[in-house]
Amino acid sequence: MGLKGADNDMSEDGGQRIGRRDDAVRAAVERGLLGPDAPIVGLLDVTGIRASAAELRRAFEAVAAPGTAVLHAFAVKATPLVPVLRLLAEAGLGAEVASAGELALARAAGVPAARTVFDAPAKTGPELREALALGVAVNADNPQELRRLDALVGAGGPASSPLGIRVNPQIGAGTIGATSTATATSKFGVGLRDAGAREWVVQAFTERPWLTRLHAHVGSQGIPLSLLARGVAETYALAEEINARAGRRQVDTLDIGGGLSVDFASEAAEPTFAQYARLLAEAVPGLFDGRYGLVTEFGRSLLARHGTVVARVEYAKHSGGRRIAVTHAGVQVAPRTVYVPGAWPLRIAAYDAKGRPKEGAPVVQDVAGPACFSGDLLAEGRALPPLEQGDFAAALDTGAYYFGSHYSYNSLARPGVYGFAPDGDGGVAFAVVREPQTVAEVVAESGGAHADALTTLRATGSR
Ligand SMILES: Cc1ncc(COP(=O)(O)O)c(C=O)c1O
Repeated sequence: MGLKGADNDMSEDGGQRIGRRDDAVRAAVERGLLGPDAPIVGLLDVTGIRASAAELRRAFEAVAAPGTAVLHAFAVKATPLVPVLRLLAEAGLGAEVASAGELALARAAGVPAARTVFDAPAKTGPELREALALGVAVNADNPQELRRLDALVGAGGPASSPLGIRVNPQIGAGTIGATSTATATSKFGVGLRDAGAREWVVQAFTERPWLTRLHAHVGSQGIPLSLLARGVAETYALAEEINARAGRRQVDTLDIGGGLSVDFASEAAEPTFAQYARLLAEAVPGLFDGRYGLVTEFGRSLLARHGTVVARVEYAKHSGGRRIAVTHAGVQVAPRTVYVPGAWPLRIAAYDAKGRPKEGAPVVQDVAGPACFSGDLLAEGRALPPLEQGDFAAALDTGAYYFGSHYSYNSLARPGVYGFAPDGDGGVAFAVVREPQTVAEVVAESGGAHADALTTLRATGSR
C-alpha cells in the first residue's frame, strides 16, 4: 500500500490536529517528558477526543427520530485507560467491555452500569453473575452462555440488566481476516446461516421474555461501509421477525457494534460517523424511526487519530546500504504493525532533537524498534527526512490498539501516557494518564517476589 505523506490529503480538521500534535511534541521535549531519560511516550489529544465524541453523537442525532435512546458504548479494548474512559463518559458515552479487567476499568472511570455493555466471547459464570448484580447489559455469545444466563435469571428473578444475544450474520470478511467477525466460521455469536440457527434464536427469544436485545459486530478495520450496513440490516430484519413471532415489541434495542475503519494512510477523516449514520438510515430505514433503542460500540474510529507514540532515535546507522533509525518504539507499542506490517501500516512523522517537525529531502530508511528480533520495524524503506541520533520519530494514529495495549516483549517498560490540551495562554498543558512503568515494576510483575519459587520446589510424593 502506498503511504501518503503525513501532511497530504488533510481536511481542515486534520490541519488543526497536526498543529496541536506538533505543538505537543515540542512542548513534551521542552518539559523533559520526552528525552534521553524518557525515550518514548504516548500522547493523547484531549481536544480531538472530545471533538470525535461530539461528532459521533451528532451523527446519530441527525438521523434518529427525536427521543430515540442511543447509547454510544466506547469499546474499551481500543484504549483501556481509565482517564480516557472518564473523559468519554463526561462527553456522554458509555463503555463496551470484553473482560473482567475492562469492566473494572469502566467502573473505576465512573461509567454508570446503565451505560455499560458486556460482550466477551468467553465470559465465566462469576463474571456473568457480577454483570447481572451490577445491572450491566450482557449479550450472550452462544447457547451455552444463554443457559448460564437462564440459571442466573431463574435464581435472581428478572434481571435489571438488559440481556440479548449476539448474532453473526455470516456475510463475509473485509480486507483483514483477523479482525473480520462476520465470516462463516467466526468464533463470535450465533451464526445465523447455520442450519437451524435462525429458528433457534427466534425460539430462544419467544421462550424468554427477558431477552430484549440483538447484537452484531461485523468486524474491526478493513470492513467496507456497505458490509457494515448489511450486517445491521440483517440484524434489524431478525429483530422484526422475532417481534412478529412474539406478537409484541420484545426486541427493543439493537446493538450494532463498532468497526468504522480509520484511513491509516492519510490524515483524511473519512469515513465519518455522519457518512455511516446516513448510509444506515438509507439502507435500513426502520432502524431510526424510534421503535428501537440503539447501542453502538466504536473504538478505533473514536480514538486512533488522537494518539501519537513518540520515540527518541537512540542511534542512526547503516547496514547493507540501508539507513536505519533505531528508536524506542517497536513491537511493545505496535505489535500488529510489527508482526503484520502489510495490514497495519503506520505513518511516521520526523521531529528534530528539539521536537520541531524535521525538514530536509526525504531519504529511504527503516524506523526500527528496540526489541531483539530483526522484524521489529515500525516502518520499512520509508522516505522521510533523515532521522539522526537524538531526533524523534512519531508513529501517528496510534491512539487505539497501540500504546494503550502494551505488549511486554523483551521486558520493555510501558511508556508514560500524557494527555495534552491548549493551556489557554498559547502553550500546551499536559496531564498524566498513565505513569511510565519503572524497572522495579517490570521485575515485580515478572515474578520478582517469587525468585526462589522453582529452586525450592521439591517432589514431595513417594515414588
Ligand atoms: C464486540 C465488539 N464491539 C466493538 C469493537 C470495536 O471495534 P472498532 O474499534 O473497530 O470500532 C470490537 C473490536 O474488536 C468488538 O469485538
